[in-house]
Formats: sequence, C-alpha cells, structure tokens
Amino acid sequence: MEPHTIRWGIISTGGIATTFSKDLLVDPATRGVTEVAHKIAAVGSRSIPSAQAFIDKLKAAPGVSSWGVESGALDDAKAYGSYDEVYADPNVDVVYIGTPHPFHHQNAKAALLAGKNVLCEKPFVMDLAELDELIAIAKENKVFLMEAVWTRFQPIAYAVQEALRSGKLGRPRRVIAEMSSFARIDERSDDDRIINPQLGGGALLDLAPYSAVWSMLALHQHPENTDTEPRVLDFSQRIYKRNGVDEMSAFTVKWEGLGEARLLTDLAAWPARDNACVIDCEKGQLIIDHPLYRPERFRIVPHPNAVAGSSESEDITEETEFRFPNTTGNGMQYEADHVALCLRDGKLESDRMPLAESRVVQGWFDTVRKGGDSALKDWRHTAGK
Ligand SMILES: NC(=O)c1ccc[n+]([C@@H]2O[C@H](COP(=O)([O-])OP(=O)(O)OC[C@H]3O[C@@H](n4cnc5c(N)ncnc54)[C@H](OP(=O)(O)O)[C@@H]3O)[C@@H](O)[C@H]2O)c1
Repeated sequence: MEPHTIRWGIISTGGIATTFSKDLLVDPATRGVTEVAHKIAAVGSRSIPSAQAFIDKLKAAPGVSSWGVESGALDDAKAYGSYDEVYADPNVDVVYIGTPHPFHHQNAKAALLAGKNVLCEKPFVMDLAELDELIAIAKENKVFLMEAVWTRFQPIAYAVQEALRSGKLGRPRRVIAEMSSFARIDERSDDDRIINPQLGGGALLDLAPYSAVWSMLALHQHPENTDTEPRVLDFSQRIYKRNGVDEMSAFTVKWEGLGEARLLTDLAAWPARDNACVIDCEKGQLIIDHPLYRPERFRIVPHPNAVAGSSESEDITEETEFRFPNTTGNGMQYEADHVALCLRDGKLESDRMPLAESRVVQGWFDTVRKGGDSALKDWRHTAGK
C-alpha cells in the first residue's frame, strides 16, 4: 500500500527548522515506517532569498537526508518571503513553526485561523493564556495542534516508560532531572535568542521543556497517578546580570499521592552527564544519560541494599544498560511520523503529546517566570491580539 504522504510548510529558516526539515528527508524505512511519508511543500521566511537558500541547502544535504532529495520530497517546495503565504498555500497540510518562542503564539494562531494543522516548537508559547487561545481556535477550526516535544517520540522514551510500567522497579517516587548546557553566554551577542529577553531568552523556556518531559513520562503518565494538576512547590532563579534573563532555573513539582520532580536548567554550567535524570523507584533507579532532549542510554540500577540481598533484590539483581544509538537522522523524524499518522487518522490531538499535558508544563513555566525576578517576569502576552 502507498504511504500516506504529508505535505509540510516550514515556518522560518533558523537552526531548528533546518534540523527538522533534514529529518523529514530521511527514508522512513530506516526506522521501519511504511505507512507515512513526508514532503516539504513550502518554506516561509521573512525574506524570499532566505527561503530559497534554505531549500537549496536542503537539496545539497549530504548523508541520510539525501534520500528525500533523490525521492522528490523537495521537488514542489515553494519559497515564500512571508509566513502568511505558507498558511494560505492549499498544497500545505501541516505547518511547522520554528521561530523564537515569543512569536509562536502569533504564528500558530495565524496558521490555525487559515485552517492549517500545526506542529509548534517548544516551549509552546510564552504564557498559558496564549496556549488556551490556540487550543480554542484549533477546536473551533477542527484542526490538529501539537507542541513539538520531539523527545517524547523517540524509541528510548517508550522504552523508559515500558521499564517503569513493567512493575520490576515498583512505583516511581522521585525524579531528579537536569537539562543544562554550558552555552558560553558571555561570548554571545545581545541579539542572540538564547540571552535576548525580547526573543524569550533564558534557561527556563529554552531548556526546562527537556527536564520536564521525563517527569511527565515517569510521574504524570504513571498509571497510578491521579493528580492531573501537579503544582510547583518551590523554585529559584539565578539572573544573568548583562540582560536580566534567567541563567539558571530550578523548581520542584509535586504529584499529590505519587511523588515529586526536581528540575534544573542552567546555561552557565556543564550538566550532569551519565545521571542527567534519576527516576528513583521503590525497588531501584532508572538513570538516563545527558542530553535529556535526545539521550542514547538508560540504566536500571538496584538500590545498594538490594545488592546486599534484601527483599528488593528479588526483581533487580544487577545493573542493566539499554542503548538507543541515534543513527537514522537527528531524532525529529519520529515526531514527524506521529503527526503524519494523526493526520492520516483524522485526529485533532495527539494522545502521546496531549494539549492538557502541554498546559501542565506551560503552567509550571508561568509560575516560575512570574514569581521570579528575570526580565521576562512581566512579559506581556499576545493572547487576544
Ligand atoms: N526541539 C528542539 O530541540 C529545539 C532546538 C532548538 C530550538 N528550539 C526551539 O525552536 C525555536 C527557534 O530556535 P532556533 O534555535 O532555531 O532559532 P534561530 O536559529 O534563531 O532561528 C529562528 C528563526 O526565526 C525567524 N524569526 C522570525 N522573527 C524573528 C526575529 N524577530 N528574530 C529572530 N528570528 C526571527 C528567523 O527565520 P526567517 O528569517 O527565515 O524568518 C530565524 O532564522 C525556539 O522556540 C526554540 O526553543 C527547539
């Protein structure tokens, strides 16, 4: 049977739009996918030469992405000098938004109002009010909307959840997760989106989606969790003096009756490497390597007393390692396939990345941002505008 082919409209020509587009060009068969396929129908930029250069560079892409070029996935790609022209293009099935986060709301809103399905980069938006407006518009227009938390769709994410649900580890009770990146912020220019407050700079919004994802998979989605509105218990931020964004954000979230997550992001420190996320369970720990956006290994480690022969040792007797080498793209192809399957099946929402779960995490970011002392504390959202 012919695969169901999805035609993407790419918004912006920046770093992550490039990475995502390259993954669209990888042969789905390399990951065992035959039901869906991807084409790039349009690229929108603030300038036509930039959109055209983006397409030309993709056409010259070496390695695994050359498959898509040779298979014609870029043959009909149109270069537009505005985003609106992509939203209006009848040949576009779904719009991918890869602009800096302060523009996500306006860009996604315009696409949804034009009747397009939308996959929007993380963090979804700047404020829960913006997200709620997008959800309402998507529902009203009967179109698909999802936050591009690509980590959730990687094979390792499913394997971690399978291990947690096997019962072998017992109930999870605490997650400690660090997604830090020594970003050499002193060397960056003032207009770099990582540190520019006008472009949503700072550690919280850029990095915390990745420490959050593992707590959501381990605790929020745990079959025994009954708390759908886990709340932030405490938080702290370290402010980067040069422009007032948060250099570091740390916060604790509690799932009533189940457990807690302590999440840390830092732009000015090297991260924990082989224990970036520790999921402490009754009978042992599940430990995930850095980087939490695309880890390649996790381990199941017995508690020390279990090794000595306590009752805990019945299920976990020795350390076991699980590896997921990333060889068939950058890792964004899995979320793209998921979106394509949702669209093929006429779904308006993903069950793997539900809008309610995006709301939960966006709510944590609002609490930390508004309660902290960064330049984004009083950010004026664009909902209703
Ligand atoms: N999923 C992931 O792993 C991942 C990784 C990195 C970033 N992200 C997310 O993706 C988004 C973009 O990040 P990025 O690193 O790709 O950023 P980037 O390289 O700076 O690219 C952003 C693009 O947005 C467009 N843009 C529109 N208005 C802009 C403005 N006023 N200033 C600057 N650029 C503007 C530009 O494209 P045109 O000139 O073509 O319009 C620009 O190239 C962020 O929200 C970030 O959190 C996700």
